[in-house]
Amino acid sequence: MTNSNDILVLGGTGKTGRRVAALLAERGVPARAASRGGATRFDWLDDSTWGPALDGAGAVYLVYLQDLSSPDAPGHIQAFLRLARERGVQRVVMLSARGWAGAGPAEEAVRASGLAWTILRPTWFAQNFSEDMFAPYVLGGELRLPTAAGREPFIDVADVAEVAVAALTGDGHAGEVYELSGPRLLGFGDAAAAIAAATGRELRYTPISSEEFIADLIAAGLTAEEAPVVDGLLGIIARDENAYLSDGVRRALGREARDFTAYAADTAAAGAWRG
Ligand SMILES: NC(=O)c1ccc[n+]([C@@H]2O[C@H](COP(=O)([O-])OP(=O)(O)OC[C@H]3O[C@@H](n4cnc5c(N)ncnc54)[C@H](OP(=O)(O)O)[C@@H]3O)[C@@H](O)[C@H]2O)c1
Repeated sequence: MTNSNDILVLGGTGKTGRRVAALLAERGVPARAASRGGATRFDWLDDSTWGPALDGAGAVYLVYLQDLSSPDAPGHIQAFLRLARERGVQRVVMLSARGWAGAGPAEEAVRASGLAWTILRPTWFAQNFSEDMFAPYVLGGELRLPTAAGREPFIDVADVAEVAVAALTGDGHAGEVYELSGPRLLGFGDAAAAIAAATGRELRYTPISSEEFIADLIAAGLTAEEAPVVDGLLGIIARDENAYLSDGVRRALGREARDFTAYAADTAAAGAWRG
């Protein structure tokens, strides 16, 4: 049985969703973590899973697939939120991304849903160094990336999750777009130095060309179609297009965002880079 005020947390096994579900549980708010492999089954590519997952939900944390700019995204989100509204959902908090024009149509589907909406636009996650694509490089001692001297204000996903929970459970967040960054711009050399200091491991940053990076990715198993997409995302950093700070954490939570050094220290202490 579900509570009629449950919060349905999509991407519930992922970097932000897992933390959103945990924070809600800590605060005694009924919530269900959903994904293909989650406790509640939900698959964006199988709409027969949508209705059962929505059963009893009053609010949704919406994490779409990795590629928010996919031509399918607006249609999927529109159809899902129409069903959600019919089933009694009143509020949606969407995880989008900062500085990604391609996410516009997906965001528009959320704004047009008729639900009370909040949009989160985080920068690149600090946890990409421990839970995602940069983690193998950290363990290998060398960040070989096509990011030149570009800087990025990496955000701790704990902050993204806390903003999401505030927007899912609190007042005053409807109609807000929160651009969420960390408090400081870091180049990949700075990030490597912070992780090396926290872990005592050697870690250096080696800037490489897009051609070398794409070849590395294909050797690691990505397809010839996927590899240039990843390279394109890192190219945004290389050109310093992300090199500015945003105040969404302060606006939503009334405090500053966590620094990368704190992330590196906590993550090292938790043993994430012992490998
Ligand atoms: N990583 C970043 O730095 C960053 C920064 C800004 C914005 N974003 C955005 O955040 C979103 C999530 O990225 P992430 O890095 O947080 O990913 P993540 O940690 O890998 O989490 C992805 C989640 O989506 C679920 N999922 C995957 N395929 C699914 C499907 N077909 N149907 C339903 N759920 C599915 C996964 O669980 P299952 O495998 O169990 O289904 C997992 O819970 C993306 O839209 C991305 O663009 C990411």
